[in-house]
Amino acid sequence: MIKNILVTGGAGYIGSHITEILINKKKNVIIVDDLSSGFKRLINKKAVFIKLNIKETKKLKKLINKYRIDTIIHLAGSLIIEEGEKFPKKYFRNNVTHTKSVLLALKNSSVKNFLFSSTAAVYKDGLLKVNETSKLKPKSIYGKTKLQAEKLIKKFCKKLKINYGILRYFNVVGASPSGKIGLMNKSDHLFKNFSLAVYKKKPVLQIYGTNYNTIDGTCIRDFIHVSDIAEIHYKVILALHKKNKSKILNCGYGKGNSVLEVAEEFKRQSKKEVNFITISRRKGDLSKIIASNNNLLKFINWTPKHNKLEKMVRSCLTWEKKISNLRNV
Ligand SMILES: NC(=O)c1ccc[n+]([C@@H]2O[C@H](COP(=O)([O-])OP(=O)(O)OC[C@H]3O[C@@H](n4cnc5c(N)ncnc54)[C@H](O)[C@@H]3O)[C@@H](O)[C@H]2O)c1
Repeated sequence: MIKNILVTGGAGYIGSHITEILINKKKNVIIVDDLSSGFKRLINKKAVFIKLNIKETKKLKKLINKYRIDTIIHLAGSLIIEEGEKFPKKYFRNNVTHTKSVLLALKNSSVKNFLFSSTAAVYKDGLLKVNETSKLKPKSIYGKTKLQAEKLIKKFCKKLKINYGILRYFNVVGASPSGKIGLMNKSDHLFKNFSLAVYKKKPVLQIYGTNYNTIDGTCIRDFIHVSDIAEIHYKVILALHKKNKSKILNCGYGKGNSVLEVAEEFKRQSKKEVNFITISRRKGDLSKIIASNNNLLKFINWTPKHNKLEKMVRSCLTWEKKISNLRNV
């Protein structure tokens, strides 16, 4: 049975949502996070929190023994596409070298399952719908580092006979319906930027590039709600353990929305006069990418609960309002 779970990056956006569901399912959660991009207020009070950089293999090993960890969910990493282009060494160090540090701590340990957060950015650009065997050709440094980490995980886990799950997330958006957690930092997430803009006096939504080869010229993404992503993690660790298998799985809804469609929905819900402006494309951005999620649906029994664009946008606006009120107190 899965009981004691170590979540690296558990003070971050996605890690805090995964922790919330694990705690609700009565699992013991140990969070390791150096708070480099995470937040104390996102740390679940029922989890054990250890402030630590994942590069500390020896300390990780001690923690794994102390808490008899059976499952690791490894999310700690650096993930801003543009920053990765500017500081490739930082990205290789944090996403590849430091993933290796975590893997080195697994030798002769109690760990049976290892789940990793990878990304749609590992796929070749221009393949509208991708499955897990589609061509891998990351365009960004970030994507390259995640693909290298995937390879390390496969190699180590096979050798150590640990079940691994590699989850390739598409674009994660939204906030927990609990109202307690959501996206804090402005890490250039589209929905975050739009949420912040909409609450300004004269809202202007910035659109990166309107000359892509897509229906309306803006990028197309498979946006997935963070609460659905969190539930997928819970179900996948149970399935890895029960079936004693390893899997690479796309995590998306299998449908896409263009950036312009998203902007229109923000405008509609804001009920204000909202203007759009076009700015230049961002380096490293893919034009369109949608997940084929057939393998995920075969592996776990899962039905998305938050997949309407209207719901995803509302969830972001509700969260943004809440934290802006807190900022003003
Ligand atoms: N947000 C997305 O849309 C998305 C999409 C695909 C993949 N991912 C992946 O999901 C994971 C989590 O993303 P997120 O959006 O929650 O980001 P986040 O920045 O909110 O969370 C990352 C967490 O890891 C911690 N961290 C970073 N480096 C660390 C280190 N060396 N040691 C210890 N802690 C460290 C940070 O403090 C932070 O709390 C990342 O690995 C990211 O690549 C995210």
